[in-house]
Amino acid sequence: MDRPASGGEVSLKLLPSPITDRLAQLAALGATEHGIDRRLFSAADAAARRLFVQWARAAKYAVEQDRAGNVFARRAGRRDGAAAVLSGSHLDTVPTGGPYDGAYGAVAALCALEELDANGIVTEHPVEAVAWAGEEGSRFPLGCLGSGAFAGLNDLATIDALCDDDGVSFAGARAATDGLLADVPVRDGFPVPAGYVELHIEQGPVLEHRGVRLGVVTAIAGQVRLAVEVYGESGHAGTVPMNLRRDALSSAAELVLELEAAAKEIGEAVLTVGHLTVFPNQTNVIPGRVLLRVDARSVDEARLSALRDAIVSGAARVAEQRGVRIETSVIEQRRAVAMDPQLRAAVAEAIAELGEPAIELPSGAGHDAMCVAAVAPAAMLFVPSVGGRSHVGNEYTAPEDLQLGVAALTRSIAAIDRLLSKER
Ligand code: GLV
Ligand code: MN
Ligand code: MN
Repeated sequence: MDRPASGGEVSLKLLPSPITDRLAQLAALGATEHGIDRRLFSAADAAARRLFVQWARAAKYAVEQDRAGNVFARRAGRRDGAAAVLSGSHLDTVPTGGPYDGAYGAVAALCALEELDANGIVTEHPVEAVAWAGEEGSRFPLGCLGSGAFAGLNDLATIDALCDDDGVSFAGARAATDGLLADVPVRDGFPVPAGYVELHIEQGPVLEHRGVRLGVVTAIAGQVRLAVEVYGESGHAGTVPMNLRRDALSSAAELVLELEAAAKEIGEAVLTVGHLTVFPNQTNVIPGRVLLRVDARSVDEARLSALRDAIVSGAARVAEQRGVRIETSVIEQRRAVAMDPQLRAAVAEAIAELGEPAIELPSGAGHDAMCVAAVAPAAMLFVPSVGGRSHVGNEYTAPEDLQLGVAALTRSIAAIDRLLSKER
């Protein structure tokens, strides 16, 4: 791929970062023919967190975990009693994920700690790299489980009781797969960081289209996830005439198309029905019940609420016209979260030191940063995703962009440390 060359003088020594090699090692964990399946507390997820610990210990960082399964590598600061500057992302994937969503930010944070060491930079605050547990919400029906618990948004008892589609609880899954790593100390509670910065692939096409290699995130879209259950009447596929049916799947299909049209109409909002369970899912049986999960997002709260209204009113209309019963319930709701203006400025400054142009952009994807922002100032940086592809096996970011992101993150951490030290 053609890339703009980076210009300007670089004041820090740029090291050949181990980022691509480490991501390749992680990509082997949970690899399937459809991408990477590293759902929370799977054997592959446990292996990934062990690898993170191994790398951190090899670099002589103290490693701890918390009760939610988040793993932290700590580099001491001048004032070691101070709250940490925290950076990281998640190691879990969607069932057909790629090698970069999440893993990149967690490993890059570790690489950034090593770059600070290599450049002899002493920070005032301790700096921690974190691998958050379960950001995707692919196994248990809640996203950002680890960072949500960390920020006090979800209490541990509720999380422990969540069950996956096979009825395995979060607590049970964690115990079964070494979710809390046997040889890693468990810290007390959830110490509030001084600030947080997360590096992530963009997962969309904007940076590539604009021909820039770095983005500073302005805000993360709010999202609502709903369960919609359609109850019709099951029956024999050969005997019940078309006009006497109450087919739950046909009703669900009509609702899906209506919601797609509503999202287009509302604008600057997106809606996806990516999960459908059909009962009994037999060729010769009329579907009697269908479960849909709807994911709706916008950075604008008014649009998000219009989407929610459209789901409820669309369900009521389809139910009435087709003689089926439709129940909707909210699984998860998160407001749009603006990134901290001062930390954003510090990140922009750090990028400017690299002599690399950057743009500001909002994030349509959810990130752990939206939870951490509830307890500490937070910022995010993006590198490009080729073709805007993500949540698919052929997700790709060029190695030179991965390296550039690590350099930008290292400088951002140092800049945030300076900013937060001044504020003291
Ligand atoms: C996580 O990747 C999400 O945005 O759903
Ligand atoms: Mn992610
Ligand atoms: Mn994701």
